Amino acid sequence: MHLVSSNASGWNAIVDVLRGRKIVVLTGAGCSTESGIPDYRGPETKRRARNPIKIGEFLRSEEGRRKYWARAAVGWRKFDSKRPNPAHEALAVLEKTGHVLGVITQNVDRLHQYAGSRRVVELHGALSEVRCLECGDITSRNALQAKLMKLNPHFARLRDIQMAPDGDAEVPESLVSDFDVPSCNRCGGPLKPNVVFFGESVPRRVLDDALELYGEAEALLVIGTSLAVFSGLRFVRKAAAEGMPVVMMNLGHPERGFDCVTHFWDQAAGESLPRLVDDLLV
Ligand SMILES: NC(=O)c1ccc[n+]([C@@H]2O[C@H](COP(=O)([O-])OP(=O)(O)OC[C@H]3O[C@@H](n4cnc5c(N)ncnc54)[C@H](O)[C@@H]3O)[C@@H](O)[C@H]2O)c1
Ligand SMILES: [Zn+2]
Repeated sequence: MHLVSSNASGWNAIVDVLRGRKIVVLTGAGCSTESGIPDYRGPETKRRARNPIKIGEFLRSEEGRRKYWARAAVGWRKFDSKRPNPAHEALAVLEKTGHVLGVITQNVDRLHQYAGSRRVVELHGALSEVRCLECGDITSRNALQAKLMKLNPHFARLRDIQMAPDGDAEVPESLVSDFDVPSCNRCGGPLKPNVVFFGESVPRRVLDDALELYGEAEALLVIGTSLAVFSGLRFVRKAAAEGMPVVMMNLGHPERGFDCVTHFWDQAAGESLPRLVDDLLV
């Protein structure tokens, strides 16, 4: 049954189905748009075509990595300044009160943890970490940022550059070509943000953590995702196949998986989730 509505009976049905059930939450970029981080396929962003770097280009060529890090050097400043919004805060409250068991997120912004969520599985990793492709050493993105700026001081002065999703930015080609890219402190190997790129799959260990959390759920609450990417879609399909309630709160219908949704609510997560807290806590 789809309750595609914004009326009181639709909302009450959602509260009823979530009340008393152990909830696992699946989030996507739409959970962070109200923090000022653009999504890929939302009402505002769908029309703007983007071409994020793919894993093959990044791994194959130094040029690909130079392009990535030049753009990320600019994008990071804005990305790192973003703070949790009422949607993240509401999910953290619901975990503290025992309504939510944990969050499986497709986001790479760590905003769930910054809001106080404790059990978070990051399907696509986190931009705040950097990994060496040779020795696997994990270091902090902020430490790398300091190094990037030291090597490329003219980049520290760049202003008014348009922020793209996931810490990317539109940097003119002319500035990319002479960008100096640092390598691993330990072994000199190439560095990669510790995130899953387009064309990569979720690491097995992370998927196992997500499946373990999902396995404890009695209801799946899906927030702000187009479900275009299989990493998130897989949980919605699994829940539907197992007859689990799937409550989705999203601006507009998702691109895939809508047939798996049992209850749908079309509203910004920063409004719907605080309201859910109010209603579940009475
Ligand atoms: N914040 C981030 O970390 C971030 C941002 C952009 C992209 N990404 C990456 O790109 C992929 C994008 O896929 P996706 O499905 O997560 O996002 P998406 O961009 O494909 O879809 C976002 C969905 O959220 C909806 N939405 C937008 N604002 C909303 C709001 N305030 N409340 C409720 N719904 C809202 C949109 O209408 C859309 O359906 C992810 O896998 C992620 O790794 C991450
Ligand atoms: Zn290394």
